[in-house]
Amino acid sequence: MDDISKELNLDFNKNVYKPLDDTYLFLKYFKQFINKDNIDGIKLNKISYILDMGTGTGIIAIFFAKYFKSNLGLNIKIYASDILLDAIKLSKKNAKKNGLEKQIVFIHSNLFNNFPISLKHKFNIIFFNPPYLPSELIFKTTNKKKIFYSWMGGKSGTETFEKFLVQSIEFLSPIEKPYIYFLFSSNSPLDELYAKIEKLGFELKILIKIHFFFEDIILHRITRV
Ligand SMILES: C[S@@+](CC[C@H](N)C(=O)[O-])C[C@H]1O[C@@H](n2cnc3c(N)ncnc32)[C@H](O)[C@@H]1O
Repeated sequence: MDDISKELNLDFNKNVYKPLDDTYLFLKYFKQFINKDNIDGIKLNKISYILDMGTGTGIIAIFFAKYFKSNLGLNIKIYASDILLDAIKLSKKNAKKNGLEKQIVFIHSNLFNNFPISLKHKFNIIFFNPPYLPSELIFKTTNKKKIFYSWMGGKSGTETFEKFLVQSIEFLSPIEKPYIYFLFSSNSPLDELYAKIEKLGFELKILIKIHFFFEDIILHRITRV
């Protein structure tokens, strides 16, 4: 178990993605680049809405909610969503365990499908540690468990993320430059994905690349140009 997980006091369950090296890569990056004035260079007083898409145990939303709670005077609303009801139930429980249930709004949704219209054009920052394995690798078995949603990224592995990107455009704030942070594996068809990202009008930056066993995990940041 990672130190951050211990600090956050989380429960896990067999139906929900248990934070792994990819999750911790995200959090270690932000631990380094968050301070009382900004996150990764974005001024905190310019941030009103943050979204943790595919929240799983809630770890990323809880990490930020905890940080902001101790930074009084900020008015940052944190949303966390997941396609799995089990993940929403668990992440709510984890938020409560950390005394942060009032700081996070949870939405049970397939990507943005169940998001209220009132959230359109609102988010300054979105995090997504998406499922990115080709679904057929996982669905070779007939035993289709809910937790497979944690890895199943569609036919080539990038489909879920591509749908997310298209939908995200309507939910990003047009004020200041909104950022989307996401992870992907070097085993994915990244050149094609990067070309699609550019075609949608985003500019991409690779923030960190770390080697784990048989792949590199890459943390990216994109913004609208
Ligand atoms: C790799 S896990 C990451 C979980 C957590 N954010 C973390 O880093 O530990 C991917 C998460 O995305 C969720 N997910 C998969 N497809 C989704 C979709 N279409 N809409 C919303 N969430 C989805 C899964 O249920 C899972 O919780």
